[in-house]
Amino acid sequence: MGRNLADLASCTLCGLSATRRRVVVGSGPDHPVLMVIGEAPGRAEDEGGEPFIGPSGRLLFQLIEEVVGLSRARCFVTNVVKCRPPANRTPTRVELRTCRPWLSEQFASVRPTLVLALGNTAARSVFGFTEGIGVTHGRVVELAGGRGLATYHPAAALRGGRSVVDVMRADLAVLKRLVETR
Ligand code: URA
Repeated sequence: MGRNLADLASCTLCGLSATRRRVVVGSGPDHPVLMVIGEAPGRAEDEGGEPFIGPSGRLLFQLIEEVVGLSRARCFVTNVVKCRPPANRTPTRVELRTCRPWLSEQFASVRPTLVLALGNTAARSVFGFTEGIGVTHGRVVELAGGRGLATYHPAAALRGGRSVVDVMRADLAVLKRLVETR
């Protein structure tokens, strides 16, 4: 039996429900060209209730618009973990395992054509990669009903500067070709 997405906004299935302000469900159109999946909400998202509304989101959607030619409004945006981990720590295995079925429900409901996973945690959780993002970024994955690709998390680009941004641009250029041939 699957979960009912109507219950996501009041989920208490893991300990993050005790410290979050809001469940950051995600938002965007049904059947979008692109579903963008991050790791977990940060402070701005926990307060605002929307994914990627802080500095890393600004960089991310600037790059997607510039390289892929898609505006944020055309993407469904969410995270693998829907509640903010305290002090933005990496979600634990238990938190990831507990939250993952919500993302599966969202896939089934939203039915994106293409999927972009951001950073190591999302890439492993979404595509089942066993290697790190340094190896798996830019690799095209065949999915039931579409295709996917991972790149670095924009927070890594904010920390790592030009070289990370350049790799993200190259990965997003691969994504652009997938958009054009979908
Ligand atoms: N980082 C993420 O992975 N997701 C967000 O929503 C914000 C920052």
